[in-house]
Amino acid sequence: MAGKNGNGTPESTPREPDLLRFVTMGSVDDGKSTLIGRLLHDTESVFVDQLKAVKSASEKLKRDGVDLSLLTDGLRAEREQGITIDVAYRHFATPRRRFIIADTPGHVQYTRNMATGASTADLALLLVDARNGLLTQTRRHAFIASLLGLKHLVLVVNKMDAVGFDQAVFQRIADEFQQFAARLRFTDLRCIPISALAGDNVVTRSAHMPWYSGPAVLEHLETVYVGGDRNLVDLRFSVQTVVRPHQDFRGYAGQVVSGVIRQGDEVVALPSERRSRVKEIVTFDGPRAYAFPPQSVTVVLEDELDISRGDVLVRPHNRPPLRRDLEAMMVWLSAEPLRVGEPYLVKHLAAQVKGVVKAVAYRVDPDTLHREDATTLNLNDIGRISLTVYRPLPSDGYETNRATGSFILIDPVSNATVGAGMIVDRAQAGTIQVEPPSNDQPMTAEQRASRFGQKPCTLWLTGLSGAGKSTLARGLEKRLFSQGRACFVLDGDEVRGGLNKGLGFSAEDRCENIRRCAEVARLMNEAGLLVVTAFISPYRADRKMAREIVGDGRFVELFVDAPLEVCEKRDVKGLYRKARAGEIKAFTGVSDPYEAPESPELRLATGTIDLEASLDLVLEALEQRGVLPRYR
Ligand code: ADX
Repeated sequence: MAGKNGNGTPESTPREPDLLRFVTMGSVDDGKSTLIGRLLHDTESVFVDQLKAVKSASEKLKRDGVDLSLLTDGLRAEREQGITIDVAYRHFATPRRRFIIADTPGHVQYTRNMATGASTADLALLLVDARNGLLTQTRRHAFIASLLGLKHLVLVVNKMDAVGFDQAVFQRIADEFQQFAARLRFTDLRCIPISALAGDNVVTRSAHMPWYSGPAVLEHLETVYVGGDRNLVDLRFSVQTVVRPHQDFRGYAGQVVSGVIRQGDEVVALPSERRSRVKEIVTFDGPRAYAFPPQSVTVVLEDELDISRGDVLVRPHNRPPLRRDLEAMMVWLSAEPLRVGEPYLVKHLAAQVKGVVKAVAYRVDPDTLHREDATTLNLNDIGRISLTVYRPLPSDGYETNRATGSFILIDPVSNATVGAGMIVDRAQAGTIQVEPPSNDQPMTAEQRASRFGQKPCTLWLTGLSGAGKSTLARGLEKRLFSQGRACFVLDGDEVRGGLNKGLGFSAEDRCENIRRCAEVARLMNEAGLLVVTAFISPYRADRKMAREIVGDGRFVELFVDAPLEVCEKRDVKGLYRKARAGEIKAFTGVSDPYEAPESPELRLATGTIDLEASLDLVLEALEQRGVLPRYR
C-alpha cells in the first residue's frame, strides 16, 4: 500500500512482514495459559527440552498428564502464587505466518499489563469460561481492547468439554457478547467454542462440536487480514536521541511510528515547526531509501535544526495539532486514586512533560457502558479526563494514530505508571469540558474562546485583486485547523454572493461591504473563533472603521503586497483584461484607487515568496504578538 503522502513507486512501497501480534485477555481461570501452551505445543513451536521440563514439573506438581499451562506460566513467583504476573511476549510460527503473543495476566490487579500488551496488538483473544459466561472482567477487557484501537476480537469460549459441548450454552454467551460489543468499535468480531485442555478447535477443528462450522483458533489467526489496520499514511517519526559522533555528523535516532519516511522528503520538526529535507536514512545495515513502522533508524537532515529528544518529524502538509489541552479516555492503573489538580509526568512518544489533570468528566461502567458522574478514577476505572501539559504535544486522536494518540501518566514521586490515556480527537469529541459559568452570570466571550483554547482575533488581509489574499486565507485556515484552532474565512467573492448580494463597487457600496463584514467578524470573535478575511478593502478609512468595529486589540491588519504588474500578469479571473478593455468599471488598481496601508501589523510580499513560506511568517508573527500562544 502506498502512502498518500509519498512519492511512492512500486519498488519503494514497504511490504508488511507477515506477522500477527495478538494479546490474550480474560479472567484468572479462563484457561489462557493452557490455550497458549496448546498453540505452541501443537504447532511444534516448543523445544523438546522445554517440553521435558514441563513434563517433569507436571509430575512434581502431581498434575494429570502434562500441564501445558506450565509452558507459558514461566515465572517462579507465579508458580508460587498460582497467578500470572507480567506480560510475556512469545513467538511462534506456522508455515503461513509469524506470531507474537502478548500473554497478559487475568487477575483484576493486572489490568495495567493487559493494557500494555494490547496497545501494540492487532487482535485480541478474549477468553471466557463456558460454565461462567460473561463476567464484568470480560466486558471491561473488551472495552479496553476497543479503546486501545483493536479492530479484531475473538471471544474464545473455553472449557466447552465441561458443559458437554452444548451448542445452546455457546450460543447464549456468543449472543450476549455480540449484543454488548455492538456498542464498541470492533470491525471484526468472532466467537469460537473450544476446549484448550483437550485441544478442541484450537489448532484443528473439533469432532465434538459438529454444530460449529467456523474456523479453529489457529486457522483464524493464520488468515485474518490486518494489513489494512496499520497507518502508513501519516508520517510521524519520534526522535529518541540526537546522534553526534563527530563534528561532521548529526543524526536523529528514533522510530517511525506511522507513515513512511523517504530520502528526499521534506519534513517539519515539531514542536519547533522548523523545516528541512531528509538527506539520509541510516541503519546498522547501511543506508536506506525509506523506512516504515515500527522500524528504528537514524535520520540525517540537510539542515542543522534545533531538534531534541521527544520531537516528532512529520510532513509539511500532514501535521498533528500541537496541543496543550488534551481530552482523553484514561484507564487508571494505580491503587492510588487519580489526583485532580496535582502534577503528573506525561510520557508521550519519547517526550516527558509535566501535566495536570484538570477534571474528570465521567467514568464508564464496564458492564453497561453507561457514563457515571465521577470526580476521580480508582484502580481499573475507565473515564474521560481533561489534561493540561506544560509543553504542547504533537498529538493525533487515538482513532487515527495509536502512537501519537496515546500517553501514560507517571507519578512524579514514585515514578510508577499510574494511567494509560487515549487522546480523543476534538473534532470528533463533541463537547469539551471547560469551567461552566455560574448560574447568575452571563456567558463571556473569554469563556467561549476558552472552549477552543485560543485568543480570538481577526486577521484582516488587504491587497489588490490577485495579490493572493484568498489563497493565503485558505492556507491559514488549514494550518490553524491542524493546530487544533477553530477558524473561519470570510472571503469577498463569497460574501458578495450572499450576505452582501446587491452591493456594487462604488465607494459607498465598498464601505458598506466592509462594515457588514467587520460586524460579522466581530460576532465570530465573540463566539470564540479566529477569523481570517480576504477583502480588497482599498480605502484606509474603511479599514480604520473595520478596526474600530472588531476592536483594536483583536484586529491584525495584513498587507498582501504584490505589485500591480504581478497581479495583472496572474489575472486568475481574467478581470484585469476586462477592466483594461473597459468592460468593468471602477476596477481597483486600474480605474479605481488602492490606498496601501501605512502601518499594517504585517506585510507579506507575495510576489516574491511562496505560499508555505508566507504561512510560516504569518503564524510566527501571530505567535510573537501573543495572539496564538507560543510553543516553546
Ligand atoms: S472590496 O473593494 O469591497 O473590498 P471585495 O474584496 O469585497 O472588494 O471584492 C472584490 C472581488 O470582487 C474581486 O476579487 C473581484 O473578483 C470582484 N470584482 C468585481 N468588480 C470589481 C471591481 N470593480 N473592483 C474590484 N473587484 C471587483
